[in-house]
Amino acid sequence: MGALIFHPPAVIFGALVLAISSIGFFPSVVIAYPGPITRHYTFDVRLQNVTRLCHTKSMVTVNGSFPGPPIYAREGDRLVIKVINNVNNNVSLHWHGIRQLQSQWSDGPAYITQCPIQRGHSYVYNFTLTGQRGTFFWHAHITWLRATLYGPLIILPKHNVPYPFAKPYKEIPIIFGEWWNSDSEAVINQALQSGGGPNVSDAYTLNGLPGPLYNCSQKQNETLKLKVKAGKTYLLRLINAALNDELFFSIANHSVTVVEADALYVKPFKTDIVVIAPGQTTNVLLKTKPHHQQSRFLMAARPYFTGTGTFDNTTTAGILEYYTTTTTTTSKDHHAPLIRPTLPAINDTAYVANYTSKFRSLANEKFPIRVPKTVDRSFFFTIGLGTSPCPKNQTCQGPNGTKFAASMNNVSFVNPNTSMLQSYFFKKSNGVFTYDFPTSPLIKFNYTGTPPNNTMVMNGTKVAVLPFNASVEVILQDTSILGAESHPLHLHGYNFFVVGQGFGNFDPKKDLAKYNLVDPQERNTVGVPSGGWVAIRFFADNPGVWFMHCHFEVHLSWGLKMAWIVEDGKLPNQKLPPPPADLPKC
Ligand code: C2O
Repeated sequence: MGALIFHPPAVIFGALVLAISSIGFFPSVVIAYPGPITRHYTFDVRLQNVTRLCHTKSMVTVNGSFPGPPIYAREGDRLVIKVINNVNNNVSLHWHGIRQLQSQWSDGPAYITQCPIQRGHSYVYNFTLTGQRGTFFWHAHITWLRATLYGPLIILPKHNVPYPFAKPYKEIPIIFGEWWNSDSEAVINQALQSGGGPNVSDAYTLNGLPGPLYNCSQKQNETLKLKVKAGKTYLLRLINAALNDELFFSIANHSVTVVEADALYVKPFKTDIVVIAPGQTTNVLLKTKPHHQQSRFLMAARPYFTGTGTFDNTTTAGILEYYTTTTTTTSKDHHAPLIRPTLPAINDTAYVANYTSKFRSLANEKFPIRVPKTVDRSFFFTIGLGTSPCPKNQTCQGPNGTKFAASMNNVSFVNPNTSMLQSYFFKKSNGVFTYDFPTSPLIKFNYTGTPPNNTMVMNGTKVAVLPFNASVEVILQDTSILGAESHPLHLHGYNFFVVGQGFGNFDPKKDLAKYNLVDPQERNTVGVPSGGWVAIRFFADNPGVWFMHCHFEVHLSWGLKMAWIVEDGKLPNQKLPPPPADLPKC
């Protein structure tokens, strides 16, 4: 299968409506832009054989394609996506970064906002894209199915609304993924059974393609090739859909300008190397060289990793090449030198900290921001790894014969066996979840110092409650239990402002003074620094049950997740609407 190159928006969105009217003697041409529309998609979840690295496997796909089909829409449009499950696995899909205002039942995480869709059943995700535009993605939100069930979700600005930067010549999505030669569902099931770490992936991919640096991938058509023209500006929409790895990405001999993160515009800045965590998206402008280049340029990505476990230490790559003006050079081009980019060391936390410190919201007249200046509800959450006891009569492969676990405030979240949102709406939460998620750790310790002797987690399905419109602050504090590690924390239903971050333990006496409340970056997924903390703020203006979790799939499996309940407001559009009739049953 070839590279995913999408049609430019102009082709996709059809021609302008030309209305010709004649007023008096002089006919005039009026260009009328269509308003918001409803876009219908059918996602048939079915098995498909896909080959990479000389391994063919039957995988769960949408409509037989890997990666899954892209969704294009415009701000204000309604998306109606009918998902039909034709595989044995239970399935649910999530539209990562979409706020789901008044469409909470379409958010997608299994057992949080819906029961999964069972084989032979379907569910219609139906939501309006209100006040959001930019690069998003969709992915499965149950077990590890998102290894193969993911695709871009791109929202263009409304007609006639420009980007806050010069219109790019072309737009190209690049979605990072992870490939296992074996069945990734078997990988996580086996790990949860044994208590050990899961087998790492065999490759990273760009638009589903591993590239030339792997065994058995050179000869086949498994490399993303970008052909560009000299002297043009391309918008690359970068999406990290990998399961367990933050990535460095760089294009040899080319720098890029970052203009958007998590579908929110940022003050532009130049960089040679992008850092992108699972769950994050980054739009960058690539200005090609003014003249044709004989050389070809490798675009490479490999992990940033600071943990103590094993990880996939490989490099995925695509090739950037310039169109030639004459046809005679084509065969010669094939042997044109291939230039490689330099990427930071695997554990270069200093690079990552410096890079993330460059993000600032536009915060101008056209794109104002509303940062909570005061805080009604404040929370302090530790996040990190831990252990669970090994069941009797079993030997476990986790630390010292235990099982790996992960937690927030030492609570390892257990999925209920029904939908929390449904239980909440019908006031039947008894036996499903409890309202006592701790606002701060029950046992305090030196979070980033020598870990405590007891690393056992508690289990529970607990929520924290927020009154409607409360201004909320959460300090996310990494722990050094079983190794400090960077964690990409993702919040459903919201964007939040990253008002502060640092290394070591959060210290209100020193750190509050350093907050940025003027132009902090706004996002839906933030990398909590390895051995450090971030402070996030948001207004709880979207009622419902909202998942918050580490976007490393392995940590999600181990329980590094919790849920918020945001209560209804007074006005009709501030209340959780009733569920749709086709909501799946557990
Ligand atoms: Cu992209 Cu809850 O996830």
